[in-house]
Amino acid sequence: MQEIIHSLIQELTQFQINTQGELDAFKTRFTNKKAVINDLFESFKSVPKEEKRVVGQMLNELKTKAYEKLEAAQEIFEKEKITFQIPHDLTLPGDAFVQGGRHPLAMVMNKLIHIFEQIGFEVASGPEIEDDWHNFSALNFRENHPARDMQDTFFVSLNPDYLLRTHTSSVQIRVMETQKPPIRILAPGRVYRNEAVSARSHCFFHQLEGLYIDRNVSFADMQQTLLYFAKSMFGENAKIRLRPSYFPFTEISAEMDVSCQICEGEGCGVCKHTGWLEIMGCGMVDPNVLENCGIDPDIYSGYAFGMGIDRLAMMTYKVPDLRMFSQNDIRLLRQFEKIEF
Ligand code: PHE
Repeated sequence: MQEIIHSLIQELTQFQINTQGELDAFKTRFTNKKAVINDLFESFKSVPKEEKRVVGQMLNELKTKAYEKLEAAQEIFEKEKITFQIPHDLTLPGDAFVQGGRHPLAMVMNKLIHIFEQIGFEVASGPEIEDDWHNFSALNFRENHPARDMQDTFFVSLNPDYLLRTHTSSVQIRVMETQKPPIRILAPGRVYRNEAVSARSHCFFHQLEGLYIDRNVSFADMQQTLLYFAKSMFGENAKIRLRPSYFPFTEISAEMDVSCQICEGEGCGVCKHTGWLEIMGCGMVDPNVLENCGIDPDIYSGYAFGMGIDRLAMMTYKVPDLRMFSQNDIRLLRQFEKIEF
């Protein structure tokens, strides 16, 4: 028995464990339940008394050596597993990190907001599903005004008192109902109209609304603000002109044109050879509207303006078809990845 143990100790010392297979073989040979060491402990019972002490010591030595070797090998294997996860060739190119870009409409909107923020306007918002009061009645639209017609407005079929807002002017009402003058807000957002979809019009589009209410606000104040806006947006040479117009919620009302930046007023295809581009509707807030919101028109006055964003973005980035803005075609969007704003 002593001889067997002796040769096993030698075998164990020389045993090479470099692979998982060798590790398994080592376990089968030495440390598993059915392996040789357990067998020896079984037959230890029948060792004559006088040999028991020596054989016992040798057996324990064999067992300790076997388990030490097993543990050391397992530890190395664990470490290798971890290091194996680090790629061996650190010079391999990494995976490209695709950075998103801003949507052209968002960039134009951000630029406009930035321009008005410089002179104290703050962003406000309202819901896209509006009620009749905020979208029409409070804005001085009479009961039978054609804009309320089914042809223009998407009504909620379950309750036609609710509708998809047709303009951001509804936010004017929401703000004036809850804030006291001075009020100086911008309302960017999406609006909906039941229009035939084409390259130049869509059933949804985007507007930026502005509203300024305070004591002694005049039409001249509005003109100066809009001129500042046109120069900031289109360059120092930009000119504006105001043409008389009509909106139920402003009195007096105007349509603002900016000199065409493509032909610099000479006349071209984009401005239909007029030298001017129509940019926004504007005017002095009608006293009825102020009254509807609990603001005294004898003390306060103000102006409002609203412009479409989609056509501005078409012009700015020379996008020929407005439908492209909502098709999410990656080939269009990729072209804007590097542009700021
Ligand atoms: N709400 C008007 C429109 O959608 C634009 C507008 C806003 C006009 C504010 C005057 C004042 O056409």
